Amino acid sequence: MIEILSPPQIDRARATGALVATILRTLKERATVGTNLLDIDRWAKEMILQGGAESCYVDYAPSFGRGPFGHYICTAVNDAVLHGLPHDYSLRDGDLLTLDLAVLKNGVAADSAISFIVGEARPAQSVELIEATERALAAGIAAAGPQARIGDIAHAIETVLTEAGYPINTEFGGHGIGSTMHQDPHVPNTGRPGRGYALRPGLLLALEPWVMADTDELAIDEDGWTLRSSTGCRTAHSEHTIAITDDGAEILTLPL
Ligand code: MF3
Ligand code: CO
Repeated sequence: MIEILSPPQIDRARATGALVATILRTLKERATVGTNLLDIDRWAKEMILQGGAESCYVDYAPSFGRGPFGHYICTAVNDAVLHGLPHDYSLRDGDLLTLDLAVLKNGVAADSAISFIVGEARPAQSVELIEATERALAAGIAAAGPQARIGDIAHAIETVLTEAGYPINTEFGGHGIGSTMHQDPHVPNTGRPGRGYALRPGLLLALEPWVMADTDELAIDEDGWTLRSSTGCRTAHSEHTIAITDDGAEILTLPL
C-alpha cells in the first residue's frame, strides 16, 4: 500500500524524524572505544521511550529475519551492514559502525541510518565507503520531487555508487514509510530514469544506499538477522526519511 500523508500528518512525521535524528546523534557521540553494542541498544530504548515514541523493531518479525528482532536499534560493525543485531561486543578504535533506527510516534514512523568510524583512527577505505553512501543519499534526495519517479532516485543513487567503484547488491533498498515503517513503493538502489511510480506531495520515502567494498554478495550471520559482506570486507549505509513536497523533497531525519 502507498500512503499519501496529509499536512498535519507530515507535521507529526517531522517530529518523529527529529527524534530519530537526535537519538542517532546522541548515540554517535556516546559510541566511543570500549562502548558495548548492548549499551547502545539500552540507550536507544531509553531515548525512544523518553521521547514518547515506540520502537518499530522490537516486535518486528519480517521474512528476512529470525523471529522478532527483540532490540531497539540495528548496530552493524565493519563487515556487518544491514539488520545488525546488537550483541555483547565492545567497540575498538577504527571500527566502522552503522546505527539504523526507526521509531513510531503519534502514528507516524521515521527511519534513518548513519555510518561512522569509532575513536581516533581514520582507515581510508572506511572513510571512502561512508562518503560514497552519503553522496549517494544526497544525490537520491536531490533527484526526488513531485515531478520525479522512483527510477530517477534509484538511478541517481546507482550513478554515485558505481562511479565510486562499488558493486551494488539489489536485494535490499529503500521504501515508502508512513503509519508503518516498511511500505510501498520499494526504492531500489539501481534503476532507470523516468521509470517507476510517480512521486507526489505527501509521500514519505526512506532512501538508503548501502555498499560493500568489494562484493555484492551478502552472508547471514548465525544470529539469523545480521547481514554481512560475504568476503568480510567493510561496508557502509546511509539513510534518511524524506517527504515529497510541492517543490522538491524535505529531509525529516535531521536533528533540530
Ligand atoms: N530500518 C531498517 C531499514 O532501513 C530495517 C531494520 S528492520 C530490523 O529499512 F528488524 F532489522 F530492525
Ligand atoms: Co529503512
